[in-house]
Amino acid sequence: MIQESYNKISTWYNAYVSEFSSEDSEIQINIDLIKEHASRVLENVQELGASINLDESNSLLLKTCAFLHDIGRFEQLVKNGSYADNDESNHIQIGLDVIEEHEILDVLNENEKQLIIDCVKLHDISVLPKIEDEQSLALIHLLRDADRIDVLRVVSEYYTHKKIYPNRHLDMELIDKPGFSKKISKAILDEKIAKCDDVENVNDLKLSQMSWIFDLNHKRSFKMISEKGYIKAIFETLPKNDDVIDMYRNMKIFMENRL
Ligand SMILES: [Fe+2]
Ligand SMILES: [Fe+2]
Repeated sequence: MIQESYNKISTWYNAYVSEFSSEDSEIQINIDLIKEHASRVLENVQELGASINLDESNSLLLKTCAFLHDIGRFEQLVKNGSYADNDESNHIQIGLDVIEEHEILDVLNENEKQLIIDCVKLHDISVLPKIEDEQSLALIHLLRDADRIDVLRVVSEYYTHKKIYPNRHLDMELIDKPGFSKKISKAILDEKIAKCDDVENVNDLKLSQMSWIFDLNHKRSFKMISEKGYIKAIFETLPKNDDVIDMYRNMKIFMENRL
């Protein structure tokens, strides 16, 4: 990818997102959160890319993926008043439709286009399918780490200050009740990422987000998460019982061994 193509796509993106605003302050707060998330993911991919000496062309592709990956969230939020994905509304499909409809990637060659589409498509999937193409796999891994690092920033700050600034969208409209799923705790004790289908309440959501550490791909990602204390901050907001403490200890040791 060349700089000129990157500039064209990023100029389009800035114009597109500037059109989204809402008189509903709750929706506006979430529009701003999505914008900020895209900027932070952009920063994260640059840090991760630099840590592995990613070449210029792939860096530009990855930066494009960073600001396009959640582009469907804007339309989803404004149209549905929610960004909970379900059968009728999914931010990835909306994003792919926006990209196609606006012919944003037409300045790129077929291979570049496909790489970006694959990254958008797979950035949020729980378990990646087998990807043969090395370049594609490398970019997807970098984007997924960068995305998750920033979601952990957003949610750890949110859970810490939730009593003062509740945001039902960040709770994914789940009930905040005691207890957690046994399947999620088993996954964490087995050092595996929790399944979205097993998330039934806010504690499950927090634990499933913490379990992303078992699916990180880069050494620098562990360093970034560990230095910022995101996992510890989420743990502090969970009820303290032996099971939760065991899970946290497991995650802490797993991270320390990868620094
Ligand atoms: Fe996403
Ligand atoms: Fe994201």
